[in-house]
Amino acid sequence: MPARNPPTGFSSPSHDEEREVLDGIDFLRLPRHVAIIMDGNGRWARARHLPRIAGHRAGIAAVRDVVETSARLGLEVLTLYAFSRENWRRPNAEVNALMRLLREYLENELETLHQKNIRFRPIGRVDELPPSVKRALHKAEARTAGNTGMEFLIALSYSGRTEIADAARQVAEDVVEGRIRLDEIDEGVVDARLYTAGCAEPDLLVRTSGELRVSNFLLWQIAYAELWVTQDLWPDFRRKQLYQAIVDYQARERRFGDIDSHTIAARTRSRRRTTKP
Ligand code: FPP
Repeated sequence: MPARNPPTGFSSPSHDEEREVLDGIDFLRLPRHVAIIMDGNGRWARARHLPRIAGHRAGIAAVRDVVETSARLGLEVLTLYAFSRENWRRPNAEVNALMRLLREYLENELETLHQKNIRFRPIGRVDELPPSVKRALHKAEARTAGNTGMEFLIALSYSGRTEIADAARQVAEDVVEGRIRLDEIDEGVVDARLYTAGCAEPDLLVRTSGELRVSNFLLWQIAYAELWVTQDLWPDFRRKQLYQAIVDYQARERRFGDIDSHTIAARTRSRRRTTKP
């Protein structure tokens, strides 16, 4: 059964426990898109009597591990929630430090992302970011634009409600300019105007640090996503937790508003019995 196993080139994790979780993944049924709310950097730092920014810095190791692992697993899309529009309310020093970390991450990791055939794309109100960050983002996007592997979306100055409002404005403009008719507006029309246009919608939404909220993240796109929450704080999150999230996701039954699969099977059997040849 080769398809159930990790793809070739997958480096073996050294830790036995981690290996066991990885072996539980069915590679035929991977989620296409995993979205992650990275939370708990501040608490991680506080527990160590460190400044909050130390938590954000420690979070970068988790970002690196999760991005590279997701690409090796063969996910189509990984989206990380790095900075919300609400995060602008944080003290200037913390916002500036986060922007600096983001620039550093891109400077240090761009060639690795490119070598691993990852396509990088920022989503959100990117125009609201400082010019030096925008330059780094554009450079990374342009450098990796021709890659054909995993798409790595990073949500920056992002708000799910703003995204929907921005899409609504574009739809209205298209109607006013005569590009589409009012009666043509449907879910697909809105979907094509979201920041994530062209991506599969998330199958799995992961959140760290135990909070049971979606925090204005991908509100339209997560309509049918499975939620998976861990108590681990983001700087402690590594591939093992990602494997576990995927194993648990694969154990769930996704119904998309339909009835359960056993009832569907029984309904089909009884239809076959009552249908005359
Ligand atoms: C939430 O923790 C985390 C953030 C607001 C920022 C996430 C940023 C990083 C992981 C580092 C930079 C990212 C990249 C992609 C290079 P919090 O500060 O809200 O934690 P708390 O709830 O414990 O206070």
